[in-house]
Amino acid sequence: MAFLAASLDRVKPSATIAVSQKARELKAQGRDVIGLGAGEPDFDTPDNIKQAAVEAIARGETKYTPISGIPQLREAISKKFKRENGLDYKPEQTIVSTGGKHVLFNAFMATLNPGDEVIIPAPYWVSYPEMVSLCGGTPVVVETRQEDNFKLTAEALERAITPKTKWFLFNSPSNPTGAAYTHAELKSLTDVLMRHEHVWVMTDDMYEHLVYGDFTFATPAQVEPALYERTITINGVSKAYAMTGWRIGYAGGPLKLIKAMDMIQGQQTSGACSIAQWAAVEALNGTQDFIPKNRAMFEKRRDLVVSMLNQATGIECPSPEGAFYVYPSVKGLIGSTTEGGKRIETDEDFVTALLEQEGVAVVHGTAFGLGPNFRLSYATSDALLEEACTRIQRFCGSLKR
Ligand SMILES: Cc1ncc(COP(=O)(O)O)c(C=O)c1O
Repeated sequence: MAFLAASLDRVKPSATIAVSQKARELKAQGRDVIGLGAGEPDFDTPDNIKQAAVEAIARGETKYTPISGIPQLREAISKKFKRENGLDYKPEQTIVSTGGKHVLFNAFMATLNPGDEVIIPAPYWVSYPEMVSLCGGTPVVVETRQEDNFKLTAEALERAITPKTKWFLFNSPSNPTGAAYTHAELKSLTDVLMRHEHVWVMTDDMYEHLVYGDFTFATPAQVEPALYERTITINGVSKAYAMTGWRIGYAGGPLKLIKAMDMIQGQQTSGACSIAQWAAVEALNGTQDFIPKNRAMFEKRRDLVVSMLNQATGIECPSPEGAFYVYPSVKGLIGSTTEGGKRIETDEDFVTALLEQEGVAVVHGTAFGLGPNFRLSYATSDALLEEACTRIQRFCGSLKR
């Protein structure tokens, strides 16, 4: 009898973590490596948030918390949804978990039965299909096109819906493309969903605050209030407040779903870390001054990277609306050969050769379900980004076609 669970056959390890690992190994060998694979802001958590955590420790906020979170944080989340998204979620309709990832997992765990389908637009965040599979559901991957700026069209969504569809998983701004849907683009999708009452909407708004220019963020239940009863709105403090290590994510949704997630969490992790919850209260209720500052900084970096990548031979890089990723195509380089004689047949060959030859670590697009592309995270200093893009230009220029 097999010792390991059969469900493990359905999942694969995270490709983004594998790239970071390879980059670390090269660094340990003394190579000069620039890592552009990470999905986290490169700066520290703001001081007022850290201070709130220090005070929580001093006050003795060190005990188990209620499973769904401390009342102060659920209140702050309820206010945040009203203030920023125009959504009415009472505190009891919210839940706090150990990171956004945990919220997503619990929502799937609470709802998926074998055979249930989850529509996931590609390219997707690597964890989505794996979580669905682990929870016994069937991921239904729907590819988007670079010509459509990696956004799902209403027609493609309509075609993907079957009687078995349970969830439509929506992520804007997107990891890995940075693409964000305008109000009108999202409305075209919610119009489709309005015709299919059995389909629920899971929206991952983790990059809400990272949008550039005059782009305005929109979320499904705000764009189509009639979907409120079958939407779970997921968010967290990781990306907006540079708090990836604190592990706080949250959601607002229909009471019956939140209660089911509470029950699962009660037999699993219980409440999230008490100290991190108090820090998150300050993140949501305290000054939001650094959000526009960060946004301006990331926007400058995006423009730098897009411009430099588009000057590299064979690369085509769209300028995304948000997050801190770009997703350039390397289609023009497939079939070329490196100076060392290696043939570039896939985007994975491209990123491997780039890492070996120039010491720049990015993640191949096929890991996110759509290639030939790569994801570059620009959450690092201007100087390193400039150096990395110069190396990418040199590498592309050195390929023989
Ligand atoms: C799209 C998306 N959703 C959710 C998460 C998970 O966030 P957390 O660190 O809060 O678990 C990430 C993190 O990379 C992400 O990119």
